Amino acid sequence: MNVILFGPPGVGKGTQGSRLAEKLGIIPIAMGDLLRAAVKEETALGLKAKGYMDAGKLVPDEVVIGMIEERITAPDAANGFLLDGFPRNVPQAEALAAMLAKHGLKIERVIFMDAPESILLERLCGRLICKACGFGFHRHYSPPRESGSCDCCGGELYQRDDDREDVIAQRLGVYAEQTQPLLDFYSGAEGFFKIDASGDVQDVYAALEKAVQG
Ligand code: AP5
Repeated sequence: MNVILFGPPGVGKGTQGSRLAEKLGIIPIAMGDLLRAAVKEETALGLKAKGYMDAGKLVPDEVVIGMIEERITAPDAANGFLLDGFPRNVPQAEALAAMLAKHGLKIERVIFMDAPESILLERLCGRLICKACGFGFHRHYSPPRESGSCDCCGGELYQRDDDREDVIAQRLGVYAEQTQPLLDFYSGAEGFFKIDASGDVQDVYAALEKAVQG
């Protein structure tokens, strides 16, 4: 099964996407994680992407489209993939459709996760991530057992550079302007589901499981 998860910043795509992908036996492909890895490794793409990400803007389409094509056609994606954070605008969705047709692939589920802005802000402002293994925590909703260190590997926890309030506001603006139009693009499509992602992690996961079961 190939799945697209989309929705606003902080709605829980990363938290739910990795768990859902594991359950389905497919690989999670998180565009933001791919870009952050490229920034960390200081690749040419990473250096190009950094300024856009720090400012809360979208990285140019030609950069992300090439990265996604490489990833969805890699051998470990042969059983299926879950896209988190791609596509993020209509031109990217059109490019994905062309790419899928070219490689004989199909998307079985497109799931839109939604929650009110007040909840998104709370989630983003409290997010903590492990520097070593990337596991995500939240200061209030899922705090680490020991302050500042990861429950899974003991690594140091940090706050993402783009989780500052001013950058969050910019990201929400970009979402409203560029990503929300994807709702019109996908809402009539076969396999489209909209779920309420404002509940706790277990409730949202249950709604996602129901959506993938159809
Ligand atoms: P990206 O990393 O994709 O950021 P995003 O879409 O803004 O989404 P987030 O990762 O912030 O949130 P999430 O929905 O995954 O929430 P999470 O599960 O972590 O992209 C970053 C940047 O990269 C972009 O701004 C752009 O510059 C660039 N980029 C990426 N894709 C691109 C593309 N296609 N084109 C161009 N540029 C691109 O949850 C957030 C917090 O809430 C966590 O602390 C979590 O523990 C907590 N939480 C989650 N669910 C719940 C719940 N139900 N209850 C309580 N707490 C919860």
